[in-house]
Amino acid sequence: MTAPVAPKELREVKDPGEHREAAQFIASNKPVDRATADCVWVGVFATATGAVELSNAAKVLDKVSNGAVARAIKAGDIDGKLGNNLLLRDLTGIPSPRALLVGLGKRDDLNEKIYIDAIRGAVKSVSSSKGIKRIASFLTDVPVKASSGERSGSWRVTTHVTTIRECGYRFDRFKTKKDDSEGASKPKSTAKPSSDGITHVEMLLPGDMRPTEAPKVIEDAQALANGLELTKDLANLPPNICTPTFLANQAKTLARECRLKIEVLDRAAMEKLGMNALLAVAQGSAQPPQFIVLQHQGATTKDAPHVLVGKGITFDTGGISLKPAADMDEMKYDMSGAATVLGVMRAVAEMGLKRNVIGVIPTCENMPSGTATRPGDIVTSMSGQTVEILNTDAEGRLILCDALTYVEKFKPASVVDIATLTGACVIALGGVNSGLFSPDDGLADALLKAGRDAQDTAWRMPLQEEYQELLKSPFADMANVGGRAAGSVTAACFLWRFTKAYRWAHLDIAGTAWKSGAAKGATGRPVGLLVEFLKNGLE
Ligand code: BES
Ligand code: MN
Ligand code: ZN
Repeated sequence: MTAPVAPKELREVKDPGEHREAAQFIASNKPVDRATADCVWVGVFATATGAVELSNAAKVLDKVSNGAVARAIKAGDIDGKLGNNLLLRDLTGIPSPRALLVGLGKRDDLNEKIYIDAIRGAVKSVSSSKGIKRIASFLTDVPVKASSGERSGSWRVTTHVTTIRECGYRFDRFKTKKDDSEGASKPKSTAKPSSDGITHVEMLLPGDMRPTEAPKVIEDAQALANGLELTKDLANLPPNICTPTFLANQAKTLARECRLKIEVLDRAAMEKLGMNALLAVAQGSAQPPQFIVLQHQGATTKDAPHVLVGKGITFDTGGISLKPAADMDEMKYDMSGAATVLGVMRAVAEMGLKRNVIGVIPTCENMPSGTATRPGDIVTSMSGQTVEILNTDAEGRLILCDALTYVEKFKPASVVDIATLTGACVIALGGVNSGLFSPDDGLADALLKAGRDAQDTAWRMPLQEEYQELLKSPFADMANVGGRAAGSVTAACFLWRFTKAYRWAHLDIAGTAWKSGAAKGATGRPVGLLVEFLKNGLE
């Protein structure tokens, strides 16, 4: 059978990582009266009494400009509140033609979220000026509160890089008129802040950071941003282009560019291994399934690897248990787990992370057809356990269970699977937290902490033997669904049965991997969480 795909001209999107030139970042010790840029960013705070408090850089700016900042405050042009920024031109005493006073809100309220919002707001304030390409930011030197204690300078530098890079992200390759090109309609005021015009950012070296440390921190942050962009690009691609074969080719390109080891198993190889649960999902589609294994070797061969397994359903129609029509287009995002794995592999490879990391991606398409799996079919998984497929729309767990058995051979230090697994997880946690399931408290805590540090949070959900009863089948070792109650827990319990040989956690990213509505698009989550986890390692 021939496998229908997109028209040739669309298929030849050679490189989803064909990014616009990313902005360059450096850290320096230059004070505001020596930094040369098109615009300097300087923070101001609001106070409880309604007055405005100056950051250290704002004080210097005020002094060298003979009180220009104080005059703007006195005139009521700036109040220090978050989101209220003021652009001043041609101040005396500084080499830069512009200074942006950035309202940071009250000093004591300044937490991670507000800090990120302030940077986004600063990007927005300069985005309409064609003349602003080079920024010198002094926001890296303001204190940011964490849930306990304060964020380090290195966190503030990293967050600067990733936030500004995020503001520059667009997915417009299928638009014949780009928003910022001549003759295209003007972006609406609701448009996301754009840092497209920003080419260079010089950040003030934070007080707690040595000048020699900065380049590596910036390099790692750029690597993370590159990984996030790859994940978003792949997830946003339409399902007629982003097929299992396309993902396998992307992985090969990534392996070549980043010197990763790669192996791609085809259907015959999967048959040989007995991956019948995975193959049952794939059998309704004209697109052949692929099983991708990528390896980054950053430590000695004796070091046990951390393994990531990403769900790669390139389109989920539900199969014979067909989904309703409304919003079905969003099921192109059902390969977000796979996209996350590829993004993380890119980031850790570019960082040269000194750990062994293996990314595994079972990928296929869930389609209804004359060859599709029927409700009631029983398959023997690679583990030997049999599964009665009562609902063909619970396909994610079927492809993951065989992948989770396959990875036993790596004798992993940990295995984390990442999957847009259940609509029930969206109901439970919305778009704020990914669902985290693990029988291992140490692994769970490490992932939760990594999520907090990366502003990419997860929330722990229960895994308990008591729920396993819901998966009972009269005919096989288990059913693939457990009814409506505790839908995301029973899905995790299903996977649990295949993960007894190693330390394991499951991230349900159904609510966090993409946004619906007017601003529809991939978020890149949980790449930040996972890269942070891998950097920290596991006790
Ligand atoms: N990919 C879906 C889960 C999903 C649905 C993610 C909506 C994000 C938004 C998954 O394959 C699925 O269809 N799960 C079913 C499981 C059910 C049949 C037990 C679901 O959640 O409805
Ligand atoms: Mn499904
Ligand atoms: Zn699915």
